[in-house]
Amino acid sequence: MMLDYKAVDLDKEERPEVLSLFPPYEGKTVLELGAGIVHFTGELAKKAGKLIALDFIEGAIKKNESINGHHKNVKFMCADPSQKALDVGCGIGGGDFYMAEKYDVHVVGIDLSINMISFALERAIGLKCAVEFDVADYTKKTYPNDTFDVIYSRDTILHIQDKPTLFKSFYKWLRPGGKILISDYCKSAGPASEELTGYIKQMGYDLHVVEAYGQMLRDADFHEVVAEDRTG
Ligand SMILES: C[S@@+](CC[C@H](N)C(=O)[O-])C[C@H]1O[C@@H](n2cnc3c(N)ncnc32)[C@H](O)[C@@H]1O
Repeated sequence: MMLDYKAVDLDKEERPEVLSLFPPYEGKTVLELGAGIVHFTGELAKKAGKLIALDFIEGAIKKNESINGHHKNVKFMCADPSQKALDVGCGIGGGDFYMAEKYDVHVVGIDLSINMISFALERAIGLKCAVEFDVADYTKKTYPNDTFDVIYSRDTILHIQDKPTLFKSFYKWLRPGGKILISDYCKSAGPASEELTGYIKQMGYDLHVVEAYGQMLRDADFHEVVAEDRTG
């Protein structure tokens, strides 16, 4: 890293020297580590058959992509060592501690209820796992695109009327190749009993048949959707 005020001049001199030390790579597949900081991507892309530009800092690799994205033989990747999961409507966070401890992932739990999150925070005291909690309404909260590897939600989304909009947000918050796992209440096909209809209305639930639920996810661009009735 160059912190010298003459960094630009030094870079001009050093760059050809560094490039001259590379073994021949014309037409080969090249992995550039720390690509977001060193910025050899542009030069390497001119001769490499395929270039994988990798950096641990997401902002750095995005900046690199904004400069060198026109080289179609370059794949830009962020090598974030820890996976990040979002638990939507996390309650007291039981699943979050489990995921963080068992799979060594960073988990963000979001819930509207201060009481639930207070329990979760009490439980987090002294634990070394990477869990954080947000007190917020997940229909209003936004996260930057490509933030999570996994979005998980258990028995929460039944409260939400506008599921299509929520699912589109989930899709954007997930990194490419990310996964979503939802367990939720559904209804069976055909008319519900008067008693059940009254109960659903009283609770303010928005219930769908399983296949229609899966279709909402497909409509939000999710692929390989498996919608299953697990009540049998
Ligand atoms: C039935 S509990 C499930 C909690 C947890 N997922 C579990 O499996 O133990 C539903 C949770 O969703 C939360 N919730 C409902 N609507 C929400 C919203 N719009 N934003 C954030 N949390 C919400 C509630 O506060 C509650 O903690």
